[in-house]
Amino acid sequence: MEVRRDPRSFLFFIILLLLINSPEPQTTTYNARARYEELIEREYYQLDLLNRTSYGDFDAKKDKWLNVTGLRDEDGFAWELLDPVRQRAKEQSERVLGDRWRSIIDGTLEDEGHDIPVYKNLSGYVQGEWVRSPLSRVQHPSDMGNSSMIPDNPFAHLVDFDRNLTGMGGPLRLHFTELEDKMRRNNNKTVSEISAKVVIGDDDSFGGNWWEFVAHGVHFPNSGTTVLTTTSDRYAGIFALPHLQTSEHLYSSSQKFLNWTIHEAIQRQESRVFPLWNPWTSSAEGNNEGLFQGHHCEFVLYLQEFPSQHSVDMEWLEHELRYPTGAPVTQHAQFSMSMVGFSPDCGFVIESKGPPGFPPSEAIHLVGSKAEDYNNRARHSIIAFSVALAFQLWFLIKQMKETATPSMRSRVSFYTIAMMALGDGFTFLILIFMYLFLTTSQLALYSIAFMALFSVLTHLRFLMDIWSVQAAERARLDRQQASPAPAPTPQPAASNPTPASSDNDEGLPLPATAPRPRPPTPIIIAPDQDDPSEDMTPTPGNNTTTTTNTNPRAELGALYSRFCLLLIVVFFITIQFATARAAYRSIYFNTISFLYLSFWVPQIYRNVMRNCRKALRWDYVAGTSVVRLAPVAYFYLKEDNVLFAKTDWTGFAVLVGWVWVQLLALVSQEVLGPRFFVKEGWAPPAYDYHPILREDEEGATMPLHVTTSTSPGSPSTTALDASSSSAEESTKSSAESKNKGRKVFDCSICAQDIEVPVIPAGAEEASVAGMGSTSMILQRRQYMVTPCRHVFHTACLEGWMRYRLMCPNCRESLPPL
Ligand SMILES: *[C@@H]1O[C@H](CO)[C@@H](O)[C@H](O)[C@H]1NC(C)=O
Ligand SMILES: *[C@@H]1O[C@H](CO)[C@@H](O)[C@H](O)[C@H]1NC(C)=O
Ligand SMILES: *[C@@H]1O[C@H](CO)[C@@H](O)[C@H](O)[C@H]1NC(C)=O
Ligand SMILES: *[C@@H]1O[C@H](CO)[C@@H](O)[C@H](O)[C@H]1NC(C)=O
Ligand SMILES: *[C@@H]1O[C@H](CO)[C@@H](O)[C@H](O)[C@H]1NC(C)=O
Ligand SMILES: *[C@@H]1O[C@H](CO)[C@@H](O)[C@H](O)[C@H]1NC(C)=O
Ligand SMILES: *[C@@H]1O[C@H](CO)[C@@H](O)[C@H](O)[C@H]1NC(C)=O
Ligand SMILES: [Zn+2]
Ligand SMILES: [Zn+2]
Repeated sequence: MEVRRDPRSFLFFIILLLLINSPEPQTTTYNARARYEELIEREYYQLDLLNRTSYGDFDAKKDKWLNVTGLRDEDGFAWELLDPVRQRAKEQSERVLGDRWRSIIDGTLEDEGHDIPVYKNLSGYVQGEWVRSPLSRVQHPSDMGNSSMIPDNPFAHLVDFDRNLTGMGGPLRLHFTELEDKMRRNNNKTVSEISAKVVIGDDDSFGGNWWEFVAHGVHFPNSGTTVLTTTSDRYAGIFALPHLQTSEHLYSSSQKFLNWTIHEAIQRQESRVFPLWNPWTSSAEGNNEGLFQGHHCEFVLYLQEFPSQHSVDMEWLEHELRYPTGAPVTQHAQFSMSMVGFSPDCGFVIESKGPPGFPPSEAIHLVGSKAEDYNNRARHSIIAFSVALAFQLWFLIKQMKETATPSMRSRVSFYTIAMMALGDGFTFLILIFMYLFLTTSQLALYSIAFMALFSVLTHLRFLMDIWSVQAAERARLDRQQASPAPAPTPQPAASNPTPASSDNDEGLPLPATAPRPRPPTPIIIAPDQDDPSEDMTPTPGNNTTTTTNTNPRAELGALYSRFCLLLIVVFFITIQFATARAAYRSIYFNTISFLYLSFWVPQIYRNVMRNCRKALRWDYVAGTSVVRLAPVAYFYLKEDNVLFAKTDWTGFAVLVGWVWVQLLALVSQEVLGPRFFVKEGWAPPAYDYHPILREDEEGATMPLHVTTSTSPGSPSTTALDASSSSAEESTKSSAESKNKGRKVFDCSICAQDIEVPVIPAGAEEASVAGMGSTSMILQRRQYMVTPCRHVFHTACLEGWMRYRLMCPNCRESLPPL
């Protein structure tokens, strides 16, 4: 088989993936430059209009229109909604602020000098639910004018708009950005520039569709009132913003403010080398919107922050939050808002869900936390995650120390470790890209990403060890499959005269891994069948060793590139699904979590196939399960987790149940035998170290009592005193107690007695009391019988086999455990 891969093709694939995922470049043609100048000119015209107009100049009811895109009569927007919505916004502010609202409306608040305890800096997020207001009406694309339609597409006005909310409600989340250096405030800090990323979903849409867009606007820090609008080539929202305000005072202050900020924005736009088509774009990716883009519904949102119930000095509180000095913050004022919004073109009106329309027990408008709180939370979860990673590494390193010998390594499933490594690699990639979501605490992120990388490398190292041991084993299997019976030395018939009643228990010395028909099995004590790395004694003079080993390094290299490829593919698929409809997204992430948390399955499978157990330490198995479930639990169970994932208790219960089932399977394999839940014949035959011993006339199937002294020259090398074994064995036969179906043997490792239940000659297995019961199964776990028919304590031989796969008595090779 060809295993060498050209690494260049792999690199090419990555670059291809990157290209596919990158936004397409803007083509600036001469034509575009001319259009750009036209755009700037129009912006100046609209700014001038904003400068000139006064409150009330725009009123759809009185048929007063403005020559601003979207605010003209022929644009066909649903501007008659503006007044009722403004009324709702006023009611909302009045309900929240009470009497103080009056002084805000007419601008006397500053003069009177009483302060409303609201946060002055809205950086942070709020989330909740929206409901459709009865004020809504339905606008069809054909209702709207075609002044800014895509010219080449005559049917453009028939295509439904994006972000068209049709349901009765859905989730809503707003992320505010109010940065000190980027956003401007007027001198008296009464108006401030603000932008918000709006994430809005629609319950009625197919698969729970949701949209993400950016709205820009003004924030009045004294009252906590914010008005946001989207801006596009069909709707110059930011220029119209003063006309959307609820009072004349707010109109004039925002007009002055916007006159200044818009002017600066246009100037910056002019001085750019590459055209920036829309500085107030609503596209969430922040990329440069072209002149003509797909149609989407525009939004105008009125937000009112709730004042703190306690009289706290909010400025001090905010300062303390941002630059903690350790002062006791007793009343942590909640960051919450209510919202009224509408779409001037699509005609729907939405409100945040909460009192008075809904009881407070059901919903309380939009609640969230300020950026500082969020960052704190993010930092804490990152630290918690790093602790989890550290534990994971600790367990792994302990396991690796234990799994230091080839015979131990051959028990561990390659794929179990590979799945964990894949999980860690995925975590690493996610953490590296996380700074896109979490703006701060980057240092912590990078250090933990480093830890994840270290974990990946440790796992890869472990994988390499396992691979090199198991490659030999695989080569042997391949060989056996290629030539099904490599000289199966015909066996003297005396060795298998046992009754055909029980097949798994009868055959004492079965070959370890040979996929041969069972009953007439030859006793294969073939050292040449064992791979050289398993027992460290080099087996000389075999044609097999020379033909194997098709360059494991090359195989390993191919494996690594496959690992990276799989990782990157999974990562890109995940990124695609992260922006998919809510239903698809949850299906995808549930599936991925389920697959990831199936990491014990390959180990269980390997145990079954090789009839082995004792692959992994129990603290490793338990610890790894818990530690790897913990991050999943955080996202499934924690209400306000850092990635805003929806909680799903049932989903998590299923995942925990699944891991629990796997653990149970592992435990029962340990206690009851690796194959107890597998039907006979499903798994390839393997040597059974715990057979039911039966006595027969010839004594052929009984363990050796007194034998011809085993290979005279060799015993000196073994750790035990093998020279005395023949003597002990002879005493053992005398110590044999035939009463009550038991025999006593001697374990040559610890030089103590083993009592072994034996079925008397001629008796059927079923007739002997308790032979099939669980206690019998457990009893059989106490001793082990080797293919060379030596009996040992289970603990003794298992300890021995961690280092050598050969019989301590006669140096025959042993099938792996
Ligand atoms: C409206 O503005 C455009 C430029 O944006 C201008 O060409 C047009 O003449 C104006 N219309 C009116 C009625 O002022
Ligand atoms: C705004 O209007 C004033 C007069 O009210 C005028 O002097 C000024 O140039 C205008 N500014 C802009 C940017 O058009
Ligand atoms: C919004 O969706 C409704 C219901 O599907 C549809 O009737 C209406 O035409 C859509 N509006 C726009 C502007 O696409
Ligand atoms: C679109 O523009 C054409 C002229 O270019 C006009 O005849 C037509 O009535 C317009 N359609 C709408 C829906 O305004
Ligand atoms: C508001 O708080 C955020 C987060 O601490 C900070 O980055 C931003 O500069 C603050 N904005 C103002 C205007 O103080
Ligand atoms: C700022 O406040 C002072 C009085 O406190 C007032 O005279 C001045 O006009 C205000 N400036 C702005 C831009 O509102
Ligand atoms: C708008 O800004 C210009 C200077 O850019 C200024 O002359 C004008 O008075 C401002 N208009 C208003 C209404 O503040
Ligand atoms: Zn022992
Ligand atoms: Zn032996």
